[in-house]
Amino acid sequence: MRQTLVAGNWKMNGSKESIQSLLSGIKAGMSDVKNAAVVVCAPYIYIPMVAEQLADSEVSFGAENISEHEAGAFTGEISASMLNDFGTEYVIVGHSERRSLYGEQDADTAKKYAAARKAGIKPILCLGESLEEREQGVTEEVVARQLDAVLELEGVESLADAVIAYEPVWAIGTGMTATPEQAQDVHKFIRGKIAAMNADVAEKVQILYGGSMNASNAKELLSMEDIDGGLIGGASLKAEDFLAICKAG
Ligand code: PGA
Repeated sequence: MRQTLVAGNWKMNGSKESIQSLLSGIKAGMSDVKNAAVVVCAPYIYIPMVAEQLADSEVSFGAENISEHEAGAFTGEISASMLNDFGTEYVIVGHSERRSLYGEQDADTAKKYAAARKAGIKPILCLGESLEEREQGVTEEVVARQLDAVLELEGVESLADAVIAYEPVWAIGTGMTATPEQAQDVHKFIRGKIAAMNADVAEKVQILYGGSMNASNAKELLSMEDIDGGLIGGASLKAEDFLAICKAG
């Protein structure tokens, strides 16, 4: 049985004050979360504070991005070892906003995935098609291409220590959630593709759904066979909403 994982992606939101109160709220509600493991991914600058506030709790934390480089002249970047210094357990790589707004290519995402793994940080690898690609009927090709970049660099076994998040770009922040069937179809395709290479890894790898998941649609999405959790943007910014999703898992 794969454990359900619910990960918040705060994106570029929050302040010292709002994050402190969000984390207090989440910690206070964790006793009612029975099945899901819970992670929050925070903007870099708040990671030390998040680490401190979560030190005595079962909530894990991650970063939203990472440099593919180990160290050196990369102004403005944050390395895996820096994230390690604060005990960061997870990092989102290849989020569609990184791909579409910052020009991150499949190969860059694969290098970031490799850098995280090398440092013992679990990558949450985001895959997903745009609306145009879905309408053209090339969803599977797009997701396969994005996944292949990582598999070619790091091998299928690497997924044993990683998480995948299927996030259709058209569903992110739009309120237009994929139906449970639409999401399940792509999750099944991803797991099947991995199974063709390594059945054991395919059985174990957690595949999260992301894209307007909220308290009212989480239960149905999470009940699908190949949906093992969620990557939550907007609904992760309020403790009550986030906890409702965690409890649905
Ligand atoms: P959303 O974002 O839940 O606000 O749609 C999800 C994500 O971008 O990870």
